[in-house]
Amino acid sequence: MASLAAVVLAAGKGTRMKSRYPKVLHRVAGRPMLAYVLDAVESAGADRVVVVAGFGLDAVRAAVGTRAEVVCQEEQLGTAHALLQAEERLAGEKAEVLVVCGDTPLLRGRTLADLVAYHREAGVTATVLTTRMEDPTGYGRVLRGEDGLVRRIVEQKDASPAELAVDEINTGVYCFAAEGLFDALRRIGRENRQGEYYLTDIVSLYVREERPVASWVAADPTAVMGINDRVQLARAEQILRRRIVERLMLDGVTVIDPATTFVDAAVSIAPDTVIYPFTIIEGETAIGRDCIIGPQARLVDCRLGDGVTFQNSIALESEVGDGTTVGPFAYLRPGNRIGARARIGDFVEMKKSVVGEGSKIPHLSYIGDALIGSGVNVGAGTITCNYDGRKKSTTVIEDGAFIGSNANLVAPVKVGRGAYIGAGSTITQDVPPGALGVARGRQKNIEGWAARKKDA
Ligand code: UD1
Ligand code: CA
Repeated sequence: MASLAAVVLAAGKGTRMKSRYPKVLHRVAGRPMLAYVLDAVESAGADRVVVVAGFGLDAVRAAVGTRAEVVCQEEQLGTAHALLQAEERLAGEKAEVLVVCGDTPLLRGRTLADLVAYHREAGVTATVLTTRMEDPTGYGRVLRGEDGLVRRIVEQKDASPAELAVDEINTGVYCFAAEGLFDALRRIGRENRQGEYYLTDIVSLYVREERPVASWVAADPTAVMGINDRVQLARAEQILRRRIVERLMLDGVTVIDPATTFVDAAVSIAPDTVIYPFTIIEGETAIGRDCIIGPQARLVDCRLGDGVTFQNSIALESEVGDGTTVGPFAYLRPGNRIGARARIGDFVEMKKSVVGEGSKIPHLSYIGDALIGSGVNVGAGTITCNYDGRKKSTTVIEDGAFIGSNANLVAPVKVGRGAYIGAGSTITQDVPPGALGVARGRQKNIEGWAARKKDA
């Protein structure tokens, strides 16, 4: 494929979002809208991509990173003015310039590639990507002449009632011959209801100058949907989420209820894993095969091995090894590394802790800043006292140790290999390997006490 330049218009504030943040950085399925648009133009073959940014410039620049060049549109005077800002970068670059808006996250690379191929074949000056919408409200309407050719695009705010009735809309995606494009943009005025330089006016301008303008009708209107407010954002989220979950299912993952399964775009899940309802899997989470996830699981930026069972629990930035069981009702805060065939049971909270192979923390524990070896049993109600009010300290529990129920391990402290801790102990000193550490009041039984109390 011949090389192609692309410009992404992303300088607008997105007033209708009512947000402090630039519209194109609002997230859909865990990624900024702009990231999807960049995916689409890249996969359509664009090898020079310029993003026009303005509102929230630094944040947009950071989100774009090295994926594209960023130029600044100081004042947002309209889409034609926005595209003009890319002129310097594209001077003499490529034969065609693909223009897309940064607020169309559902765009597919394939649609763009089809548009460009059609444009090249037709040998026209401009090709507009249009579609038909059941409810075209808010979009520019595509007006065709009697010959069926596109003559003009009229914005919602400037349209007559008859024009508003047209259901063919401008998607905001165009392919232009680079030659003469920027000169034409400079001839666009701002005599319209919004006082903006409309890129859409280039259509009537080219038609007047008898330069050929074509159109390509996208079959799927949802894929070209522009996001202007948060209602549309949620709609896009729903569509994209559906796409993601369907992709997972086609790749071998069982999803019991797609409607209540929320998976971010960057998540990977291996075949034969089963996802139960009401589950949210976010960020860069990677899950192995044969796992059982959910119901009601939330995983954010986690790595799970194969054969993991993770139900009714939350885990953030943690790793879980093969065959390990987590939950129900466990909370893994960031920084845990749980080994293989371990068990983290109900009402266990953990943070920044390492757990070795086959170790068990089955019930009601707080484990923070702990290094736990393999084959360790941590009894119900065990607490690592990792914070003295000023600093956090580490608890070390070596291989094969047995911590009796309801123990307090006051860090820094170390329980040696194979040592035992008596139930109910508050351990403040290291326990040597193989020893028994007990630290609690001795029990005394007072015979006949109850009867004497009753008589008194
Ligand atoms: C635009 C089109 C409309 C089309 C719709 C498709 C114009 C005049 N109208 O309307 O025909 O149906 O998209 O979704 O082009 N932007 C800038 N600088 C500016 C203004 C906008 O970079 O000065 C960017 C925005 O960040 C946004 C994109 O251009 O990503 C579109 O702007 P927006 O205000 O959303 O245009 P619409 O009213 O949706
Ligand atoms: Ca828009």
